[in-house]
Amino acid sequence: MHENHTELETLFNAYTQKLEQQESQELLSVSESLAMLHKNGQYPYEKRLPKKAYEDALLLLQIELLKLQRHIVQTNQRVVVVCEGRDAAGKGGAIKRFTQYLNPRHARVVALAKPNEQESTQWYFQRYVNHLPSAGEIIFFDRSWYNRAGVERVMGFCTQAELQQFYQQAPEFEYMLTQSGVKLIKYWFSVSRLEQLRRFHDRMRNPLKKWKLSPMDLESLDKWNSYTEAKQAMFTHTDRRATPWTVVRSNDKRRARIESIRYFLAQFEYPGKDNALIAKIDRRVID
Ligand code: ADP
Ligand code: AMP
Ligand code: MLT
Repeated sequence: MHENHTELETLFNAYTQKLEQQESQELLSVSESLAMLHKNGQYPYEKRLPKKAYEDALLLLQIELLKLQRHIVQTNQRVVVVCEGRDAAGKGGAIKRFTQYLNPRHARVVALAKPNEQESTQWYFQRYVNHLPSAGEIIFFDRSWYNRAGVERVMGFCTQAELQQFYQQAPEFEYMLTQSGVKLIKYWFSVSRLEQLRRFHDRMRNPLKKWKLSPMDLESLDKWNSYTEAKQAMFTHTDRRATPWTVVRSNDKRRARIESIRYFLAQFEYPGKDNALIAKIDRRVID
């Protein structure tokens, strides 16, 4: 994706250095970051879920997802799952596990690029409306209309007036969706600063993950606090009773994936539901 590796690496190292200077006691060196993550209690559990336990639990939940999908198709339900969060929060990885075994005819992932010239003349929500579900469909938005409250606000890609209008219209838009029968679930994948940095490093070094690292990601390293403010404003305006946010603490990737699927299943009734498997939401992970 990014041919100019060295330039990216230089940029990244500059950011890393900056971070180290600003927070010398929090982030001594990148190699120590993992140990720091542990010490600071940034994972919900002492130990990572063992691979086998993770895979077994995931598979059982994916079987439930298939039962649910069949029911959604049979009953003509329409479902929207909004996945938001900072860069490297794990949205894409979670969506991948959600959709792994689903029938793709009735499940789609929507990850839109930045608006093109024509789209930027339209009502802000218009291009998202094009991707809303028909009967029987589950649509996963890997980033969504919330770009306006996040990257667009922080990077200055929209005006103040557009932003204020978004804060007003987003809850109205979502309320209309739910009133028309769409089931809407909004996840905020929450990653800590240290873990985000660790993941960026991983992406830098791992050829299979490098495509995930965008210049926008590197920009965001520098803007942690602006993104925090943006997130808070977003919650203030759009965390409504009818259309609440569900926070997924996603420093622990395995548990984040498992618990977000479990939470999703818990929002529905369907034939053959394994209630024992779904009943207990892990409040260390889901907020
Ligand atoms: P991702 O994290 O989803 O892999 P990026 O970090 O590259 O992708 O970008 C984050 C989001 O910002 C994307 O949804 C992208 O469409 C959006 N974006 C990037 N540039 C602009 C822009 N100039 N105006 C509006 N949105 C933008
Ligand atoms: P990944 O999220 O797949 O990039 O990898 C998780 C990383 O976090 C690995 O390097 C793990 O060793 C590390 N890790 C260590 N302890 C934990 C924990 N208690 N919970 C989750 N992840 C952990
Ligand atoms: C992200 O959260 O930046 C992406 O969706 C990819 C991921 O971390 O799995």
